[in-house]
Amino acid sequence: MSRLSPAGRKALLTLHLVTSLGWLGADLALLTLGLAGWRGAEPTVVYPAAGLLVTYLFAPLSVLVWLVGVASAVLTPWGLLRWRWVLVKLVLTTVMLGLVLLLLTPRLRAVGAAAPHLDTHDRVDLIVPPAISTGLLLVATVVSTHKPWGRLRPAVRRRA
Ligand code: HEM
Repeated sequence: MSRLSPAGRKALLTLHLVTSLGWLGADLALLTLGLAGWRGAEPTVVYPAAGLLVTYLFAPLSVLVWLVGVASAVLTPWGLLRWRWVLVKLVLTTVMLGLVLLLLTPRLRAVGAAAPHLDTHDRVDLIVPPAISTGLLLVATVVSTHKPWGRLRPAVRRRA
């Protein structure tokens, strides 16, 4: 049963959409900077900018998206472990959150500090993670609108 009023549910859904699709937008901005750096744009501009973007926008948004996503499931009739589409999104977002906090953020900050001395390997390293995560977020968006694969457990019928 939903624990929110209709207005509360709409507000939470709006927050969920703004944060999660904002996350996708920030990811695309990171990918754009990675591609620009790879194509020869000034590294002392591009990589420190990518470091700032990931530290002050992408990483905090990752935590917020996870929290608001879980709230959108727990506080609505969808539940967190009732529907496969919700579980798939939970797993996807949790894996991404771990990768962003443990790998991407420290790596981008280090690369930003070493900007003038980057080799091709470093430059490609800043394209692959945002390209993969943008793909995953597009999958999460399509899964959200199509809601495929049905229930994890059969619904419990209430007695009349
Ligand atoms: C912890 C991870 C997440 C969970 C548990 C989760 C759960 C949910 C739930 C339960 C809803 C339905 C809310 C309602 O009807 O009031 C929803 C809607 C939606 N979610 Fe997520 N979400 C997560 C992450 C994401 C991500 C990463 C994206 C996209 C980048 C996303 C995109 C959407 C969209 C577009 C909708 C609207 C679907 C519609 O109304 O047809 N979600 N989500």
